[in-house]
Amino acid sequence: MQEIRKTADGSPTIYDDNFGESLHSAFGSITEGRHIFIEQGLMQILKTRKAISILEIGYGTGLNAALSYEAAKEHHINICYQGIEKYPPSAKIQAQFNAELPSNIQSTANLLSEIEWNKTTPLSEFFKIKKLHQDFLEHLPNQQFDLIYFDPFSPEKHPEAWDAAFLQRISENHMKAGAALLTYSSKGVVKQGLRAAGLIVQRLDGPPGKRHILRAKKI
Ligand SMILES: C[S@@+](CC[C@H](N)C(=O)[O-])C[C@H]1O[C@@H](n2cnc3c(N)ncnc32)[C@H](O)[C@@H]1O
Repeated sequence: MQEIRKTADGSPTIYDDNFGESLHSAFGSITEGRHIFIEQGLMQILKTRKAISILEIGYGTGLNAALSYEAAKEHHINICYQGIEKYPPSAKIQAQFNAELPSNIQSTANLLSEIEWNKTTPLSEFFKIKKLHQDFLEHLPNQQFDLIYFDPFSPEKHPEAWDAAFLQRISENHMKAGAALLTYSSKGVVKQGLRAAGLIVQRLDGPPGKRHILRAKKI
């Protein structure tokens, strides 16, 4: 069972009964996504390249894709985006979620919801996306990316997603040299896993309600 909940910045999230967790921070889903993935991820990697490939582990509602699209439009960035999701929200829940987003993001969110799964689709001349309906633990795209939005459920609720061997696979096979992985969890075990995967781990200030987040770079 999934239900819509409101977060502290007024933007919606979805509570997922199976995992016993919401898809976003209760302190603000848009605030969280913008801070972690856009400001500390996309805007940082943009300093070294203008065309950016992004892999999102846990695509969920597509909110981070919508925020990335808006940033790409504003800053003239070329983005190729792939997002992996095993349990997409039902059409009804997704429509309710989109309807509660601020009006400036709503049309992008609706477009993203409508596009077909498993097919590369240009949303504009600067943004291409492929939503992959699959299990990220079993299959990842056979390519390397500039940026990883690492957004599974928490280590407490979904430990397999934070397993050191999985982080190692992502680092070795799916990150280009100079690529960065962003994630909201700064737990010791996550830092250790990322370091063991050969990445340089930085602890950064988090969004409201979260002291720290992590950026892990491949050199
Ligand atoms: C924290 S939420 C991600 C929220 C999402 N980034 C957004 O902006 O809406 C984690 C997501 O991972 C998905 N998920 C859980 N296990 C998965 C798996 N094995 N493979 C792919 N997706 C999975 C969940 O269904 C959920 O949507």
